[in-house]
Amino acid sequence: MGAQQSQGGIARDWAKLDSRHNLHPFTAHKDLRQDGVRVITHADGVYIYDSTGHRMLDGMAGLWCVQVGYGNLELADAAYEALRTLPFYNTFFQTTHPYVAQLCEALAEVTPEGLDNFHFANSGSEANDTAFKMIRYFWNLQGKPDKKIILSRERGYHGVTTAAASLSGIRSMHPQFDLPIPGIAHVSPAVYQFEEGRGLSEDDFAQLTANAVEEKILALGPNKVAAFVAEPVMGASGMMTPPAGYWPRINAICKKYDVLLWVDEVICGFGRTGQWFGSHTYGIEPDIVTMAKGMSSGYQPISAVALNARLNEAIVNAPSEMAHGFTWSGHPVASAVCVKNLEIMRRLELVGPVGDRNAAALQAELATLADHPLVGEVRGVGFLGAIEIVKNKETGERFSGAAGGGVVCRNHAISNGVMIRACGDTMVMSPPLVITPEQSKELIDAVRRALDATLDDLMAD
Ligand SMILES: Cc1ncc(COP(=O)(O)O)c(C=O)c1O
Repeated sequence: MGAQQSQGGIARDWAKLDSRHNLHPFTAHKDLRQDGVRVITHADGVYIYDSTGHRMLDGMAGLWCVQVGYGNLELADAAYEALRTLPFYNTFFQTTHPYVAQLCEALAEVTPEGLDNFHFANSGSEANDTAFKMIRYFWNLQGKPDKKIILSRERGYHGVTTAAASLSGIRSMHPQFDLPIPGIAHVSPAVYQFEEGRGLSEDDFAQLTANAVEEKILALGPNKVAAFVAEPVMGASGMMTPPAGYWPRINAICKKYDVLLWVDEVICGFGRTGQWFGSHTYGIEPDIVTMAKGMSSGYQPISAVALNARLNEAIVNAPSEMAHGFTWSGHPVASAVCVKNLEIMRRLELVGPVGDRNAAALQAELATLADHPLVGEVRGVGFLGAIEIVKNKETGERFSGAAGGGVVCRNHAISNGVMIRACGDTMVMSPPLVITPEQSKELIDAVRRALDATLDDLMAD
């Protein structure tokens, strides 16, 4: 539908209507009112279209989530069938339904080893607040009520509900809402690019940052530390890949001190890093995993917490009911879409030969950007990619100014027909897993043109 197109015979100006009523997520509304909003009207395959008819290859898969691409009618049909058969029923009062039962079975086949029990929610944030509560509950059930502190990482992103935002290590998220809540301690993000580790080998840096986690546990007291939570690859803070050797050390430290290892797979799950979960890609051995986004390819809002047998047994054998759960926990329509999504991902071999081919092509194309005069670093894994925009390739010096180069580059990318994201001066990509090698070339060629245009702009300043 165009900006002025008709709905029920009435011409609507969607942008105007939106600006009158809609408070957008993570948005400076004064700027939005000034700059205007882009109206995305429809999408197909890896392409999105705005109300001016401009087509863009969606290099972000929506928001890291549309694994199988847009316009998948099998997913639409699965939703429709569930809507007609059982549009809603809850799973509170000794009831269940086939859709959620089937989803549990399908998920258990792909989740990391031993994580076969699930509690469902509606968003990544809700899954994370749920995990936060379940960890408290678990240690209470174990008779260790003092074991409550959760370690998370600086720069990490875990969502916006009260515990999830508190766990997030992006500090600008806290003061507006009087966060973080007590009981959380932040540790090193293990980001090789930005820390004192710069002069160290990757392995030495991994050792240094893992040591920092261990030292924090010892300083707080292992009997007080309940869990450690992290993303396999940091997403929202700029697609930061972990240093090699970091995760095996974290596995060992968590085991040594009986600290639960909670992996936030909201972005990394469902093939994003090339395997089903980031835990598979990096050899992480979680006790708890939270997931959302690619679970339904973004076609329905749904998320889950997966628990290992130890946590599950504790909850199953608890003396009283677990006083937690949502009206929409395991919603039939969302569950049906997830089941179909997993079936499609398997059939298309998106975690397998086809996914491997698509990811390899994306990474090969991405690597060609390393020579560009604005690019300080290129990094990527699976269907994730990032480039750092720098003023000086040798020193890594950045452009100054509020917007830096990122927003300028993002705007040029859009003009050149691709949607990518600017996290400061880091350009992030996370396309649908169905992106073909030809489409990856199209994406990266457009990003290169955007970088050229950005260079012209920044040098003219
Ligand atoms: C790692 C991670 N955890 C949690 C969330 C929150 O998910 P939601 O926006 O669905 O609440 C996000 C969102 O991007 C995320 O990247």
